[in-house]
Amino acid sequence: TFVVTENCIKCKYTDCVEVCPVDCFHEGPNFLVIDPEECIDCTLCEPECPVNAIFAEDDLPAEQAHYKELNAELTPKWPVITERKEPPADAKQWEDKPDKLKLLER
Ligand code: SF4
Ligand code: F3S
Repeated sequence: TFVVTENCIKCKYTDCVEVCPVDCFHEGPNFLVIDPEECIDCTLCEPECPVNAIFAEDDLPAEQAHYKELNAELTPKWPVITERKEPPADAKQWEDKPDKLKLLER
C-alpha cells in the first residue's frame, strides 16, 4: 500500500487524488490519507505529489514509519476526495518544514 506522510500537512496540493483509479484518498482539514484497504499499489500517485509526500510502505523513511498507522486510523474518519482543489493559500511556505505532525488537524 502507499502512504501519505508529513510533508502533505498544510501543503495539501491534491494533485494526487486525480490519478487514483480506485478513489483511495480521504481528506481532512489540512492533510490527506490513503485507504490501505483500497490501494492497489498502482504507483500513479507517488510522482504526482509536488512535495514528495507519498511513499510505498516498503520505502517509507524510518522517521515516517508511523504514518502508515496514521493513514489507516484517519481513513474511516474522513470523506473520500476525487477532484483536485486549490491548496491552502500559504501552502508554499510549509513545503519541507520539519515537525508538522503537531499541526495536523483531525
Ligand atoms: Fe491510488 Fe495507486 Fe496511489 Fe494506491 S498507489 S493510492 S491505488 S494512485
Ligand atoms: Fe498531499 Fe501531495 Fe497529495 S501534498 S494532497 S500528498 S499531492
